[in-house]
Amino acid sequence: MSEGYYNSKKTDDICDDVCGQNGTPAALSMSRLKCILKGLDFKTYIFLFVIVPVGIFGLYLHGQKISYFLRPLWESPPKPFHEIPHYYHENVSMESLCKLHGWGIRESPRRVFDAVLFSNEVDILTIRWKEMQPYVTQYVLLESNSTFTGFVKPLLFSGNRDKFKFLESRLTYGVIGGRFKKKENPFIEEAYQRVALDQLLRIAGIEDDDLLIMSDVDEIPSAHTINLLRWCDGIPPVLHLQLKNYLYSFEFFLDNKSWRASIHRYQTGKTWYAHYRQADVLLADAGWHCSFCFRHINEFIFKMKAYSHYDRVRFPHYLNPDRIQDVICKGADLFDMLPEEYTFKEIIGKLGPIPHSYSAVHLPAYLLNNAERFRFLLPGNCRRERG
Ligand SMILES: *[C@@H]1O[C@H](CO)[C@@H](O)[C@H](O)[C@H]1NC(C)=O
Ligand SMILES: *[C@@H]1O[C@H](CO)[C@@H](O)[C@H](O)[C@H]1NC(C)=O
Ligand SMILES: *[C@@H]1O[C@H](CO)[C@@H](O)[C@H](O)[C@H]1NC(C)=O
Repeated sequence: MSEGYYNSKKTDDICDDVCGQNGTPAALSMSRLKCILKGLDFKTYIFLFVIVPVGIFGLYLHGQKISYFLRPLWESPPKPFHEIPHYYHENVSMESLCKLHGWGIRESPRRVFDAVLFSNEVDILTIRWKEMQPYVTQYVLLESNSTFTGFVKPLLFSGNRDKFKFLESRLTYGVIGGRFKKKENPFIEEAYQRVALDQLLRIAGIEDDDLLIMSDVDEIPSAHTINLLRWCDGIPPVLHLQLKNYLYSFEFFLDNKSWRASIHRYQTGKTWYAHYRQADVLLADAGWHCSFCFRHINEFIFKMKAYSHYDRVRFPHYLNPDRIQDVICKGADLFDMLPEEYTFKEIIGKLGPIPHSYSAVHLPAYLLNNAERFRFLLPGNCRRERG
């Protein structure tokens, strides 16, 4: 049977004698493999042994890029927000500002609670809390001895608490022990910490109609935005804040598309601390989001490991300090990823490093008043300390 089958194929002529011989089944199939290989021409060899492995290796190296580039094909953008125009000038009265937004003015401002999960952003936390200082009633901070990715983390806020004396009387500080579940999805540890933050808020004394800011430490609402929302009547119960996205420092302005931060009029039993989309309204130009804005290279390395997207550290050399310094000065991507966008036009428009921006206008006041101390956040100062 098998003899006849092979002999009927034209390409088998060259190895007729091999294919035709008898032997054990194993020997037979080996020799069949040989004769199949013999039957292939040189171009096919190149394809099988060069192009295919190189292609597979390329997919291994760049598979993530390819899938991001093709994202517009497999993922459609989320429903757009309803953007609320934002009016502000220092010389316009609060009454007029509220009116411009279609809101009334209150007799007294609401109380304001700022609640954050702290990891290692000591410098950005200082700028954040100084920016909000005139308007915040209670600062609520929770830290864990575990990163979202399950690594042990020192209690860095506790270690730096003396830097925050200016708000000690208004601080509710909590510590939570990590669960240290290896190989678990980091978003589970994150969700667990956010639930603990809800409890800490109740301990801090939050009540109905108080304003609650839900945002990461590096998402900083501008002071005038908080002031507007605490004074005006009839604001939406949940309002997302559109922040300007920066990377590494205020030298690298990316876009205006940060939206995860939100401000809530607290409602007992209904308001839960979250960092995803919770409403359709977005207040334009409401502050800054400075991602990976660290003073020391070590802090970049820590964050890259601790971050919920640890899977993006695909190769150990991504954590090399010289490489990180180089990437920062170029405005390139730490994880060598493509822009996360939903259309080819936007992906292509954002390919390559972020252009330098030399505008330091409309930045947090405390940053400019302490420019020497925070020079690494200002244009033209991309070199970081090693320590
Ligand atoms: C704001 O008002 C003050 C006092 O009315 C005036 O001196 C100042 O020039 C105004 N500033 C701007 C930027 O319009
Ligand atoms: C983390 O903190 C919890 C509670 O404070 C403690 O019981 C636990 O031993 C700590 N774990 C580590 C690894 O430090
Ligand atoms: C971002 O918003 C500002 C106004 O706040 C505007 O001047 C700027 O052109 C916007 N930039 C981009 C890239 O959308």
